[in-house]
Amino acid sequence: MPSHRTPRRILLPAAALLVATALGAWAAAPKDLVHYRRHALGALGFQFSQLGAMVKGDKPFDPKEIQVRAAHVAYLAKLPWEGFTPETKGIKPTDTKAALWSHMDDFKEKARALEQAADTLAETAKNGDKQQFAAQFLKTAKTCEACHDRYRVE
Ligand code: HEC
Repeated sequence: MPSHRTPRRILLPAAALLVATALGAWAAAPKDLVHYRRHALGALGFQFSQLGAMVKGDKPFDPKEIQVRAAHVAYLAKLPWEGFTPETKGIKPTDTKAALWSHMDDFKEKARALEQAADTLAETAKNGDKQQFAAQFLKTAKTCEACHDRYRVE
C-alpha cells in the first residue's frame, strides 16, 4: 500500500464515528425505545384498522388497497419488539403491564404469532378473495388480542 494513503482500518471506524455523531446516538435510551415501540404499534394499528374497515364493509373492499395495506401490516408487525427491552421497565408513559417483564418468552411467542399471521395475511391479500382475506384478518386480529389481554393496559 502506498505510504500516503490512510489505511482502511483507520478510515472505516472514523466514518462510523461521524455517522453515529450525526445521528446523535450510540445506543437508544430507554425512553426513546418506549417512544419508538408505541409509535410502531400506532402505525400498525392504523394500517390494521383500515383493513378492518374494508372487512366490515365500512369502506368499499378494494383489492389493490388491501394488498398494499396488508404488506404494510406484515412489515410493521416486525418492528415494535426491539423496543421492549428490560431497561425500559417502569419508564412512562406506557400501557405495557408489568407482567410482561416476567413473561418475556411468552411475549416473544405472541409477537411471532402476529408476524406469522400477518405474513399469511399479506399472501392472502394477493388473490383478492374477500372471504379468504376476512378469515385471515380475523385470525390476525386474535393474535393482537391474545397479547393485549395479558400485556397491555386497556
Ligand atoms: C406481542 C404482544 C402484542 C401484539 C401481538 C400486539 N400488540 Fe399492540 N400493544 C402491545 C403492548 C404491550 C402495547 C403497549 C405499548 C406501550 O405503551 O408501551 C400495545 C399497544 C398498541 C397500540 C397503542 C399504541 C400507542 O399509540 O401507544 C396499538 C394501536 C396496538 N397495540 C395495536 C395492535 C394491533 C392492531 C395488533 C395486531 C395487528 C397488535 N397491537 C398486536 C402488545 C402487542
